[in-house]
Amino acid sequence: MNYTQAYELLKHKGQTHILDFFDSLTEKDRQRLLAQIEHIDWSVVEAAGRKNETKSRGKTEPLNAIEAAEMERKKDAFHSLGIKAIRDKKVGCVLLAGGQGTRLGFDKPKGMLNIGINRKLYLFEMLICNLMKNTRDAETTVPLYIMTSDKNHEDTVTFFQEHNFFGYPKEDISFFIQEMVPCTDFHGKILMENPSAICMSPNGNGGWYTSMQNAGILEDVKKRGLEWMNVFSVDNALQQIADPAFIGATIDSGCVSGAKVVRKASPDERVGVLCLEDGRPSIVEYYEMTQEMANLRKPNGDLVYGFGVTLNYLFRVDMLNEMLGANMPLHIVEKKIPYMDREGNYIKPDKPNGYKFETLVLDMVHMSHSCIPCEVIRDKEFAPIKNASGVDSPESARKLLAANGIEL
Ligand code: UTP
Repeated sequence: MNYTQAYELLKHKGQTHILDFFDSLTEKDRQRLLAQIEHIDWSVVEAAGRKNETKSRGKTEPLNAIEAAEMERKKDAFHSLGIKAIRDKKVGCVLLAGGQGTRLGFDKPKGMLNIGINRKLYLFEMLICNLMKNTRDAETTVPLYIMTSDKNHEDTVTFFQEHNFFGYPKEDISFFIQEMVPCTDFHGKILMENPSAICMSPNGNGGWYTSMQNAGILEDVKKRGLEWMNVFSVDNALQQIADPAFIGATIDSGCVSGAKVVRKASPDERVGVLCLEDGRPSIVEYYEMTQEMANLRKPNGDLVYGFGVTLNYLFRVDMLNEMLGANMPLHIVEKKIPYMDREGNYIKPDKPNGYKFETLVLDMVHMSHSCIPCEVIRDKEFAPIKNASGVDSPESARKLLAANGIEL
């Protein structure tokens, strides 16, 4: 694409400001910017105009979970079924580590956060440790695929290498990079990072399987004959990965996906709730629930919509393959996005100033025709780190880790 073609395209899209500093750029930077313009996914950028459209939801109904007491009762059977699947090499794991962790405000990949007190204990290390506990039981290992983004790939890979992959077999770990999309202001104008670069951000955690395909990783999945993928977030320090009981319970249910859920602490807790929407599994966000729905109780007093998702899912690989190429809903999220203004000043906003565009893994649950929620005990398996302090912070996670006997 040359300058004239780029200008014509941007004029048509109402985005010519992207070329405001073109004349002052070096030839290399000009080529870089033209290449970026050529690769803009306009369907994403144009979604900004639909931000305020209200999305109508289908009919919601409760979805029964395997509650903790039943998980406990059937523990041995579920555990042996899961161990067998791991030993038969049917299970792979995917660590979603491409997020920017803006709420935490840590300037490195979130997994590099030290959650130790008297010793160093990194979040990545903790997750590998949790995974190894389960693979040791199965006397084998599972492939671990780690999703990063352009923004944190190098730091993440170097960190793993410097720490000798925290003792996990190197040949079982692969990294892949997720796609990036432009960010816009609230009027849909693309934000600039500097005179020669558009502000780009990772395209959300819903594109992980497509990104695996784009990176050529699905060849490995096929070669290894994997049947299940356990996908999980980087920011839960108590995350149980390749958990045999969860795998066994999902296989036993006959569902094509499973989700680890926790009992909501209160009706207004800010978590997405797993339920049925028009007969398919679906996650309804806390802000989408009416007061009536959030407070609805069963005769025994339990909340009807009482189980929140923890971002730990199991998906059948054949179902994921069928989904490849399907359009996923785009979520338009208001965020604080550092940018360069029209006069060339660099601005670090202290409140949200624009939109990021993301697909979400939770929509994959709705795209699958069946999902079994498996309740886990929240104090044992849920220590999220989202914020710098207070709720879901390193401090609250450390308390939970200590309560679980983890030396910090
Ligand atoms: P969050 O939704 O908490 O987003 O990610 P985030 O970007 O990490 O944090 P904030 O919202 O900016 O504070 C949940 C999980 O999904 C991963 C994250 O790394 C985390 O494990 N994720 C998120 C990706 O892998 N890619 C993305 O584009 C977004």
